[in-house]
Amino acid sequence: MPMHDLTPQQCLDALAWQVDAGADEAVGDTPGLAHWVGTSAKAAPQQPPLRHRSAPDTAAAPVPPPARAERNAPPTTAIAAETIEALREELGRFEGCALKHTAMNLVFADGNPQADVMLVGEAPGEDEDRQGKPFVGVSGQLLDRMLASIGLDRSSVYISNVLFWRPPGNRSPTDAEIAACLPFVERHIALAQPKIVVPMGGVATKSLLRTKEGITRLRGRWTDYTPHLGRDDTPSIRCLPLYHPAYLLRQPGAKRQAWNDLLTLKKALNEANSLK
Ligand code: URA
Repeated sequence: MPMHDLTPQQCLDALAWQVDAGADEAVGDTPGLAHWVGTSAKAAPQQPPLRHRSAPDTAAAPVPPPARAERNAPPTTAIAAETIEALREELGRFEGCALKHTAMNLVFADGNPQADVMLVGEAPGEDEDRQGKPFVGVSGQLLDRMLASIGLDRSSVYISNVLFWRPPGNRSPTDAEIAACLPFVERHIALAQPKIVVPMGGVATKSLLRTKEGITRLRGRWTDYTPHLGRDDTPSIRCLPLYHPAYLLRQPGAKRQAWNDLLTLKKALNEANSLK
């Protein structure tokens, strides 16, 4: 989205994010910005843990990928859905995840399902649960500023999570909850067919990529993601893990790396669109 389409407040927010991320220090640098990677982060005061987080702690991401046995038995309903709307309806009927009974709402997706980029977060928090929409709380506000800084907004991305219901008290998701939801997440991605899938934070990255490697190693590095659906008609998708916005709220020093990763994403999108 061009800056002139933003409201004055949105412009200020996007600029604040860029200054926090150290973008002002990049003026005059070559576009590579490689010197940012691996340099020590700008000294920033450590924020105390958020007392009313709207998202679980995605940074620590202590949740290993689901056990293979759980993954081998995906609900056939998820795989059978031929449209995103059908998938949402299946989830509404799905009884395989107990979180449904403690949550207020199913939190399915927001944004544009035809977008080139699909962002996948961890789990809805309190605000998301209340509104039935992903990333509407404080993490979502930072996410909006991050997107605006590279000319994107909710009409140019599609957003979902690896869990469709809020874990009580924003606790970390269990392996079993992730395993129950993952076939729906994978089918969701396969149906949306984004050019680029962006897992945000350790839990989403580990779950989608089936890796034990941490987000600090994987962020900003391209990989290929293939939804594991037991169907061989599922093409692989370019994948760029990013830090989760909730982590950046707690560790503002990491915003410089996040900014670099956003530029990587922007460059790939520009290249993909120039091929159209
Ligand atoms: N954090 C997430 O991972 N997802 C949301 O929808 C909100 C916060």
